Amino acid sequence: MQEDVVRRGRLSGERVPGIKQFLSSMDADRSIAEADLLVDIAHLLMLKRQGVIDHDNAVAIMRVLLGMHGTGVPEEAFSDHFEDIHAGIESVLIAAAGEGAGGRLHIGRSRNDEVAACIRLHLRDELLGQMGSLVKLREVLLGCAQQHRDSFMPGFTHFQHAQPTTLAHHLLAYEQAFSRDFDRLHEAYARVNQSPLGAAAFASSGYRIDRDYTARLLGFDGIIMNTMDAVATRDFALEVLSDLSIMMATVSRLCEELVLWSSSFTGFVSLDDQFCSTSSIMPQKKNPDTAEIMRAKAGSVAGAYTAALVITKGLPMSYNRDLQELTPHLWRGARDAATSLHLLPGMISGARFDIARMKTEAGRGMSTATDVADLLVREYNIPFRTAHSIVGRAVRNGTLEIKTLDVAAVEITGKTLSERGLTEKQVISALSVEDSVAMRDHPGGPAPSATAEAIALAREKLNRDQKITDSKIKGVRHTIETMLTDAGRLIQ
Ligand code: ARG
Repeated sequence: MQEDVVRRGRLSGERVPGIKQFLSSMDADRSIAEADLLVDIAHLLMLKRQGVIDHDNAVAIMRVLLGMHGTGVPEEAFSDHFEDIHAGIESVLIAAAGEGAGGRLHIGRSRNDEVAACIRLHLRDELLGQMGSLVKLREVLLGCAQQHRDSFMPGFTHFQHAQPTTLAHHLLAYEQAFSRDFDRLHEAYARVNQSPLGAAAFASSGYRIDRDYTARLLGFDGIIMNTMDAVATRDFALEVLSDLSIMMATVSRLCEELVLWSSSFTGFVSLDDQFCSTSSIMPQKKNPDTAEIMRAKAGSVAGAYTAALVITKGLPMSYNRDLQELTPHLWRGARDAATSLHLLPGMISGARFDIARMKTEAGRGMSTATDVADLLVREYNIPFRTAHSIVGRAVRNGTLEIKTLDVAAVEITGKTLSERGLTEKQVISALSVEDSVAMRDHPGGPAPSATAEAIALAREKLNRDQKITDSKIKGVRHTIETMLTDAGRLIQ
């Protein structure tokens, strides 16, 4: 077993396993091991370019680093003998290249700027993955909305039948929310993709390092200017977790609706079997377990955010080991959000909606009462509040037939509506679900013509977002490949 090169000078004695494990970040460090090699390679190229390290030592170190990059970080680097992956990789490097060369890689840096850089690099990839998944999810929602522009359904407020709408309108509401989630993650990306390297412990370094160069090599968009801030802050991680919590709250609302809609009370939807489970005792059961677990994951992601936020609160400048405890919450939150986003499009595209059943419900609960009140306002110049009272009273009396409306009108105004000229035909037309929806053709409204426009607009933005994501993924990949090519050239 390699010795822990970080501890050996200052500290003595073997630690009991309990303490080692308590202090170790090794489990979570699996997520950043590859990023750590990239950070090492960039740092080494910079030291070499600045003349801080000579050619032969640089070559010796680079051979080992590229070897590890090719084969994957060796298992021995993850031994719980080391405090973290940074100590693990450095120890493996020194064992392989000798201390004369390998012992020079940590010139002008600290694990504090190193770990912050690794977290940012890995988080950048996570963000791009989630942005890509959001694009796919929105694509499915738009496709489904397109198919259901004429599928009527009840709209709810307070989960009471409110006014008729269309399934397209309902799905587009979610698409818009996920589009904003994309924007939030995209904005967070700009703050995540900044390099803390060169901050070292917090005060930067006495060597002639080049912060901009390592930032460029790794595809960061810039550097975190203040070196104390660079190692101390995890606000970028909090921002992402907060954005993911908001996104998962929407995922959870959608799942809640799928759970409600698939109940036989509602009967609006039947989910594909692969997203469902059955009961060990009740053979008839088909339970929407995937939607339920996703609903719960929203709680887990919010929990990760809360834990991370509270860990940073009250920490003095600059690096404190407490920050290590934040990182696993970040990866757990990101993973829970990512696995949900990955499954959700299939759950939606595989769902079978019972259009007839939804249409029946669209007109229930006197859901077009507003349209009757509007008719009285429009055609008979009755103030809206008076019309609202007349229709409300008719509803209380049990129906929206013209007879009941007349009785109600006498109670409220002393005069029937028939006297004013109201006809049964007008009332029947006002009660029609189709007419109610068709009239609501304003931008963003439920009318099929309005949803057609909304889908077209949403598609334009979706295409832009897809391009943003693809070009960032390509850009990052190209930059890293270029750096690895430079590194390869060094050892030829
Ligand atoms: N494992 C540590 C973390 O995740 C790396 C930085 C350690 N720095 C230190 N001064 N002990 O934060």
